[in-house]
Amino acid sequence: MSNSQFYSKKVMEHFLKPRNYGRIENADAVGKVGDPSCGDVMWLYLKIKEKNGKYVIEEAKFETFGCAAAIASSSVATEIIKGKTIEEALKVSNKDILKELGGLPLVKVHCSLLAEDAIREAIYNFMRKKGLQIPEELEKRHEKIKARLDKTLEMHKKLGYVTGEN
Ligand code: FES
Repeated sequence: MSNSQFYSKKVMEHFLKPRNYGRIENADAVGKVGDPSCGDVMWLYLKIKEKNGKYVIEEAKFETFGCAAAIASSSVATEIIKGKTIEEALKVSNKDILKELGGLPLVKVHCSLLAEDAIREAIYNFMRKKGLQIPEELEKRHEKIKARLDKTLEMHKKLGYVTGEN
């Protein structure tokens, strides 16, 4: 994996032709996240089906208002989590995303973290809706993610941005 100051071929490919871009109407889970340091926001939509007592991610789509690295990270994240159980998806980290992308420039590593946040937040949203027992670690992560999103949206409001908040 490289940490060159340039985008890898794979990053450019996912940025120019993002996989699974768009919204899932009536999604079973939505993860909304934002990064107040740069103002980027991301929405991850999931369709989740119960199979043999496990919740499996059948479909994943995203909308990202952000930089090339954020778009490429979300695109790759949707590909990685499709077909995984929610427990497996919770273990996906930005390292997996970076590996798949062939690395990101150091100043852009936080963009892959935003995609990791989106996965955590979408699963949190699903567990909440289903009334499932939420692990303490995920609950704490949600609090941090929510605070960061609120800060980001507050910043957008001040600047007069419209970022499709739903
Ligand atoms: S610059 Fe912030 S997510 Fe890319």
